Amino acid sequence: MDAIYKATVTAPVNIATLKYWGKRDVALNLPTNSSISVTLSQNDLRTTTTASASLLYTEDELYLNGSKEDVSSKRIQTLFRELRALRKAEEDKQTGSLVPLSKYYLRIVSENNFPTAAGLASSAAGFAALVKAVAELYQLPQSNEELSILARQGSGSACRSLFGGYVAWEMGSKADGSDSKAVQIAPYEHWPEMKAAILVVSAERKDTPSTSGMQLTVKTSSLFKERVNSVVPQRFEQMKKSILEKDFETFAHLTMADSNQFHATCLDSYPPIFYLNDVSRAAIRLVEDINKVAGEVVAAYTFDAGPNAVIYYLAQNEQLVLGPLRAALKNLPAWKEESHSHIQELMSDD
Ligand code: PMV
Repeated sequence: MDAIYKATVTAPVNIATLKYWGKRDVALNLPTNSSISVTLSQNDLRTTTTASASLLYTEDELYLNGSKEDVSSKRIQTLFRELRALRKAEEDKQTGSLVPLSKYYLRIVSENNFPTAAGLASSAAGFAALVKAVAELYQLPQSNEELSILARQGSGSACRSLFGGYVAWEMGSKADGSDSKAVQIAPYEHWPEMKAAILVVSAERKDTPSTSGMQLTVKTSSLFKERVNSVVPQRFEQMKKSILEKDFETFAHLTMADSNQFHATCLDSYPPIFYLNDVSRAAIRLVEDINKVAGEVVAAYTFDAGPNAVIYYLAQNEQLVLGPLRAALKNLPAWKEESHSHIQELMSDD
């Protein structure tokens, strides 16, 4: 009667190199374009989540970094409902032999080891970890691809955090979203030389949340139409190929071009959305300088819905890339003013 059933998992952050920006269905989180990301290491930025179920619990509860969160949001309710339905199906299949966990209240306890909502994709790792933890608690037979369809309904980008390595979120075409899922392009081991550094410009919560930002762009930007219809479909194929062929130069060009275009559509929205600041722009110029001095493309920047830069490079070029970044961090007055500025080195290793 007083047993507590538990499962603990971690889910890493993923950083998009081909951005998801725009929903064709807001309730189901169906995107207007396919996207690609690199999943960071379990040892770097991650969410650790414990899901438990017990007859002792009197309501569903969710704790994030120690504080109790509201579980009444539609997204959380959808995930709880769908996960319970999958467990119930298993209980019905194995009549009587499974504990009826689908009838018990859930307690989710989640910790991020990085700032929440600072353009560091905290929602991606958070919702991925929630789905993974409950799926493990319920011992669901669903594959990661199937679970990614659930995680997507929590936060779009969360579907990609179900996999390590290089991941595509295929937008799909069905109205019910049953083919809008994440698939692995290649595991980490395929290209283990890939590294990422995050220049944490600000650890504050972002200005415009992604959902309202995206939908403003969908409604008001003409550049956005050009992007989703003519640019992204081609870029998606080219980026996948560059990953499979381990062609850093092409991967880097596409990554930077895509970040620039995503932020251009934000600026083209009305009223305009600004995620980059002066420090972000200084980082862009610095990466351009690093590549010029190296005589080849050794570094690629990308920015999500916030001012922090993620810089991709290959392990053999670490000094070439991080040396000037560290020096600039010390010397540029604009960077010094940002009390949170620092470089966090990351590996993607699973
Ligand atoms: O999944 P959301 O709603 O947090 O949106 C993520 C949007 C970007 O991070 C800017 C791009 C992406 O593909 O992750």
